[in-house]
Amino acid sequence: MDRLRIEGQHILRGEVPLSGSKNAALPILISALLCKGKTVFHRVPNLSDIETTCQLLKILGCHVEWAHSTQTCHVDATHLNSIEAPYDLVRTMRASILVLAPLLARHGEAKVSLPGGCAIGTRPVDYHIQVLEALGATFDLEGGYVHGKIKGAFRPAEYTFPFPSVGATETALMAAATANGKSLFKNVAREPEIRALGNFLISLGAKIKGLGSPEIQVQGIPMANLNTKPAAHTIIPDRIEAATYWLAGLITKGSVTTEIAAEDVQSVLDALHLAGAKISHLGNGKIEVSYTGKINPVSVRTEPFPGFPTDVQAQWMALMTQANGAATIAETIFENRFMHVPELQRLGAHLKIRGNRVDVSGVTPLQGATVMATDLRASASLVIAALAAKGETNIRRIYHLDRGYEDLCGKLRLLGAHIIREPESSQ
Ligand code: EPZ
Repeated sequence: MDRLRIEGQHILRGEVPLSGSKNAALPILISALLCKGKTVFHRVPNLSDIETTCQLLKILGCHVEWAHSTQTCHVDATHLNSIEAPYDLVRTMRASILVLAPLLARHGEAKVSLPGGCAIGTRPVDYHIQVLEALGATFDLEGGYVHGKIKGAFRPAEYTFPFPSVGATETALMAAATANGKSLFKNVAREPEIRALGNFLISLGAKIKGLGSPEIQVQGIPMANLNTKPAAHTIIPDRIEAATYWLAGLITKGSVTTEIAAEDVQSVLDALHLAGAKISHLGNGKIEVSYTGKINPVSVRTEPFPGFPTDVQAQWMALMTQANGAATIAETIFENRFMHVPELQRLGAHLKIRGNRVDVSGVTPLQGATVMATDLRASASLVIAALAAKGETNIRRIYHLDRGYEDLCGKLRLLGAHIIREPESSQ
């Protein structure tokens, strides 16, 4: 396993090229299973979760060619030969549950291992099952596997989600795209990644209205009529990566520019403005976030899009350790997403967990130490704190970072960070 060695208190300045969004690429690559032909995807990020997705597509019978150097991925899903997503693979990536809908659409049957929990929570899949049942599928739970069947095509339905689940909304869109008629989904997720998946499904021939709003209407078309030669699809840039680098720049009293649609990160930009950062819209979608001499304490509460993203909660907590005063961070999406708290405390942060809230006291001078990454965004939080800490910080188990940040070391070095990646066994 590798670790990161970071020497803190170097100012970060410059522009960071964003990778394609992990959370857009995963569902879109999986939706390629609907296409009995070849699909091409550009700006596919070189991440371990994408590697896992490509392995899953191959296990199901796809021919996948992924050129890491050009970030282009070719998927040929003409001949599928399996209906099963195995436990060993699903347990490493819970988004594998998304293969349920396309496999049911293609084969009328699917067996997907229950994903099991992960560091940030139990991660149930009941909303996925419920919406697919509304669309005509039936399910049994056998030996830790969800076993779904459907006779013929999905049937159009109206379904209201109990919670605007990102993954379950993606499941609904993929299924309804092949239903014989018009479906209506209410209280859906509104994340940019939903819009991106919808646009790809539209390129396959589905007619979808309301992407990004609380209600989505899908006019499906029979599997046989889906476009088997869709145009190449470019993955949208990663909004969580953008937020992560902006916070890294700000905590070091620097300035970082990325190219991202403001509406995809507006809640983060609003919080950064309240924190005293200077937000400059430079044209061609480039946004610069700069330190202005102070960091104000800003309390945030994570919410479904367009609210403050749960995937930026840990990173925001690191920044607030350097704010002039107290801030409270509330996590409303996942039940256990404070694994970064004890590790930040090892760096000297003054944090107090109160149920689903954490009180952060600033300004707290941070001291370098050895810390442990526990999940993807917690790891990013430790990197941000280490960049502000006095001395050297060692972050262990950074395979978590490889799930969602392409070439993190290279991009931070580009900005002036003193950071090295090396085997944990190095002296
Ligand atoms: C997606 O996860 C993202 N992952 C997560 O990003 C992100 O944190 C999350 O959306 C929220 O924005 C991908 O897109 C691959 P949900 P997902 O379904 O789809 C509960 C990262 O760091 N729920 O919106 O799993 C669930 O337990 C990752 O990049 C059910 O109860 O999120 C959670 O409490 C982490 N039953 C809440 O809903 C279900 O069937 C939100 O989950 C599904 C979800």
